[in-house]
Amino acid sequence: MIRATDDVEKVRLFIGQGLLQLVGAVILLSGTVIILFSSNVSLAWTAMPILPIAIVLFGVFAGLSQPLFAKVQIKLSTLNTVLQENLAGVKVIKAFTREKEQQTKFRTAADDTMNQAIAVNRLFTFLFPLVFLIANLGQAAILYVGGKQIILGTLSIGAWQEFSLYLMYLFFPIMMFGMIVTQMGQAAASADRIFEILDAKSDIVDKPNASKLPAVKGDVKFENVTFRYVGGGDPVLKNVSFEVKSGETVALLGATGSGKTSIINLLPRFYDPTEGGITIDGHDLRDVTLDSLRSQIGIVLQETTLFSGTISENIAFGKPEATHEEIEAAAKAAAARQISSCPSPTDTTHTSVNEEQLSAADKSNALPSLARYYSTRAF
Ligand SMILES: Nc1ncnc2c1ncn2[C@@H]1O[C@H](COP(=O)(O)OP(=O)(O)OP(=O)(O)O)[C@@H](O)[C@H]1O
Ligand SMILES: [Mg+2]
Repeated sequence: MIRATDDVEKVRLFIGQGLLQLVGAVILLSGTVIILFSSNVSLAWTAMPILPIAIVLFGVFAGLSQPLFAKVQIKLSTLNTVLQENLAGVKVIKAFTREKEQQTKFRTAADDTMNQAIAVNRLFTFLFPLVFLIANLGQAAILYVGGKQIILGTLSIGAWQEFSLYLMYLFFPIMMFGMIVTQMGQAAASADRIFEILDAKSDIVDKPNASKLPAVKGDVKFENVTFRYVGGGDPVLKNVSFEVKSGETVALLGATGSGKTSIINLLPRFYDPTEGGITIDGHDLRDVTLDSLRSQIGIVLQETTLFSGTISENIAFGKPEATHEEIEAAAKAAAARQISSCPSPTDTTHTSVNEEQLSAADKSNALPSLARYYSTRAF
């Protein structure tokens, strides 16, 4: 979650503010360099070495800080997970009187985050004094070289004073770079974490020449299916073969962990079989597009999820264009009883509910209706 909130915010802050400041600082710096050279070339050359030194310094700090910032974000993610678990499981924690242990766990995670943040800040406490030192060394060099020229009579005090004032505008953008480097280090670490997610490729993709699955009748065939989860070791399913004809109702029975859910997960291609193949109406699942396959399969997962909105919207989740009659029919077909807080299970004006507002029984009554609705579209 931290990747979707805090990391995104850090990148936004850099792009929204840091990048603009960076452009401003570059323009100011270039303008100042031009003015310095046009007012006194030899003094300008004296001041120039501070620029590469400052750039190297910023480069070193950016390089050092980025992994540290990445660690802060990881610690923050851990803290967030602990918080989320504690809030979601507050009843379990209270029922088992584990408040103290959970508080300790939270405190440890919070301390870890703080210590990591302190480590980064400790690094940056060195940056600004160093930048000031370099700037002041530049000023001292100008004083020395300018002073000599004044003594020799080749430079007037007024011209030297003018140059010194311009020089201020060389230091100002360098200070700004110092601040931008901090923001950039944070943003780069966060961007890496965001792109890890964005660049993650799903193992299950359409074949290049995948065809559209035509309207299915519903003959499902498993042929010698062997399946193991990635990195899961032993196969969960070994040489499973069976056939289900259209219109048949099949119940899979078995001990917990025997692989019932795994079999079901293979049908919409949440996973592909390691060996063997699955066909629907004779079409191998790997030869058809995911979209055409999944849009024809109704599924009720073990965990119930109702989206905020109306019951109607939830029933029509898989087919938003469904008419009111279709939704009513789906609810009736599934014998959904009236949901306690609602005058009618599908009423669009009065049934705006959040999942939390429904009891478990409400959910279990609402869900078959959703499932039934999806299934009328498929089999
Ligand atoms: N995502 C996963 N990665 C690795 N192993 C998994 C994964 N999901 C399930 N398994 C393992 O696969 C086996 C079969 O699990 P599955 O969920 O299919 O069983 P199940 O028959 O549906 O059980 P239950 O009756 O408890 O729902 C179990 O040993 C489980 O630990
Ligand atoms: Mg299961």
